[in-house]
Amino acid sequence: MKIAVCGKGGVGKTNIAASLAEHYARTGHSVIAIDADSSPNLALSLGLSADEASRIMPVADNEELIRLKTGTDYSGVFRLTFTVDDIISRFAVTTPAGPNLLVMGTVKAMGSGCTCPAHSVMKAILRHLVVERDEVVILDMEAGIEHLGRGTAEHVDTLLVVSDANWKSRETASAIIRLARDSAIRDIRLAGNRIATPLEEEILRACAVENQVPLACLIPYDRDVADAGISGEAVRNTGIGAPAAIALLADDLAGTGENKSWGRSQQ
Ligand SMILES: Nc1ncnc2c1ncn2[C@@H]1O[C@H](COP(=O)(O)OP(=O)(O)O)[C@@H](O)[C@H]1O
Ligand SMILES: [Mg+2]
Repeated sequence: MKIAVCGKGGVGKTNIAASLAEHYARTGHSVIAIDADSSPNLALSLGLSADEASRIMPVADNEELIRLKTGTDYSGVFRLTFTVDDIISRFAVTTPAGPNLLVMGTVKAMGSGCTCPAHSVMKAILRHLVVERDEVVILDMEAGIEHLGRGTAEHVDTLLVVSDANWKSRETASAIIRLARDSAIRDIRLAGNRIATPLEEEILRACAVENQVPLACLIPYDRDVADAGISGEAVRNTGIGAPAAIALLADDLAGTGENKSWGRSQQ
């Protein structure tokens, strides 16, 4: 199953992507967590130190992977498919939390160009990655709506659009959902995060109804998650609060997927 997590900056995408990945790894799945944000920080949430994270070679700098990109060295024809094992053994970094991490890449310096090559390599990998029944790929997407224009996430099974109750977050979530409806993605869900009051819960329920998508979860405001954000540490799975809600979400996505989209999902 391939799941992309998107939404406005700061709504909790990275925390949700990391907790989903950790849960799937702990429950016996092979997991690739992909940091597709051009300011990557998923590594820290998966327990790597800042130093270890800084040594990860981004996909955008990996000559071997760049050669696989459609239209470059292979005369416009993509000749390979990948298995999850290929990617894990050849390109990914194992994290203390369990999942295997790929980092898309970033703009190196001011004026040094854009992230287009990184996005197109990532898109090619996703398109040609054959994901088996017990395997999960989770993408932590860039903030906002730009990646939908680039089509980076068009080959996922599920798009999880994260919003807190904040008006601007909901506006971004609505824009993402509108754009995603025109893509090939069939399963689009709203994930409510950082819920602290019954009013916030109500606002997110209404947001899902207005956008005509299922409400996948209501993740509570969690002081431990906020503290981990402040210190830059990985979130510990305490079995309560936000990690517990995200574990339920993970099981729900997997359960639905058993009927719908688990198994070979190459497109
Ligand atoms: N459910 C939650 N409760 C409390 N704080 C949260 C929750 N989810 C995320 N946060 C905090 O909000 C901040 C932004 O979260 P992050 O996952 O980095 O967002 P994004 O990846 O969307 O930019 C972080 O400091 C994180 O610890
Ligand atoms: Mg993030």
